[in-house]
Amino acid sequence: EKAGFDHFMLKEIHEQPKAYRDTMGSRLSPDGSRVVLKELTMTEQQIRDIRNVHIVACGTAYHAGLIGKTVIEQLARIPVETDVASEYRYRSPIITPNTLVIVVSQSGETADTLAALREAKRCGAHVLAITNVVGSSVAREADDVLFTWAGPEIAVASTKAYTTQLVAFYLFGLHLAQVLGTKDEAFIRDMIAAMKSLPEQVEAILGQSEAIKAAAEDMSKHDDLFFIGRGVDYAVSLEGSLKLKEISYIHSEAYAAGELKHGTLALIEENVPVIALATQEDLLEKTVSNIKEVTARGGKVLGITSERYAQELAKSVNTVFTIPQTHALLTPALAVIPLQLLAYYASLARGNDVDKPRNLAKSVTVE
Ligand code: F6R
Repeated sequence: EKAGFDHFMLKEIHEQPKAYRDTMGSRLSPDGSRVVLKELTMTEQQIRDIRNVHIVACGTAYHAGLIGKTVIEQLARIPVETDVASEYRYRSPIITPNTLVIVVSQSGETADTLAALREAKRCGAHVLAITNVVGSSVAREADDVLFTWAGPEIAVASTKAYTTQLVAFYLFGLHLAQVLGTKDEAFIRDMIAAMKSLPEQVEAILGQSEAIKAAAEDMSKHDDLFFIGRGVDYAVSLEGSLKLKEISYIHSEAYAAGELKHGTLALIEENVPVIALATQEDLLEKTVSNIKEVTARGGKVLGITSERYAQELAKSVNTVFTIPQTHALLTPALAVIPLQLLAYYASLARGNDVDKPRNLAKSVTVE
């Protein structure tokens, strides 16, 4: 049932190209000009009436929601807030009938997420669910559902569910842009073309697993490490850090790269590993100066960037890992793959139970 892989997690990491194809599938018009979300009941008028969006989820799904915020704000220019579900309900969020609440949940059964959904409906909001399980509570109770067609996810550590949640946000963001006219046809066409390339680009990254394995084995000897990034790279850093903690039990923290010098830099000393994500052209220079703050104190930096900036980044880091070039908003769908592999191989090197990490359950049905 593991299809020749040692663990479900590795199998699921390798299923991501297929999961991308299945989730995009018939939702992209054959000529590549438009997104077509036939399953949505939301009318164009309902979309035009949206004043704000709340994205609510837990754990990895929350991290997908952080990317979703950037995607929707950039593509549709609607203000978005992303909240952890267990916090959302208790902060008296301002929900009106013109609020779109998006709940994100692989299982569709997470207690806090479900409670947030119910609270949002009670306040008259339209609720859109992004979920992987047909017939789940979240899918049944939401007003609209966008299914991620990732297939069953068995490993406790979420991989293909997260990446297909990103795809769902790309699709939905483009759908909003089409209705609202916030992006022109050429932009939409370009982004769709870039999305269609993602599956083979993921294959290319998976082909470099050996290099990541070596880095992971090195990392597994440390007890503390850091992830840094700006913008969507920061959100991906949070996910990379969670994945690593969850299955390798190595302590790590993710920081917005510019925040490091406001305290955390005190923890950087000789040989502390830092994983720096730098995929965004407009933020590259700033991230590089944050990387230099780390290397100046002896920190060992593994940089992750897109092909176009690899040479530039190589000047200031110890090791560079390159992801294929893509649209700026789509980099998370690639950049997270080496981080998933890092966590996997670090867990393996430490002799942990990769698929069933201690203290954790696949579906969290208590609040
Ligand atoms: C981490 C992980 C968890 C889940 C979280 C939400 O790898 O899997 O953080 O993402 O428990 O679960 P769902 O998406 O089922 O609501």
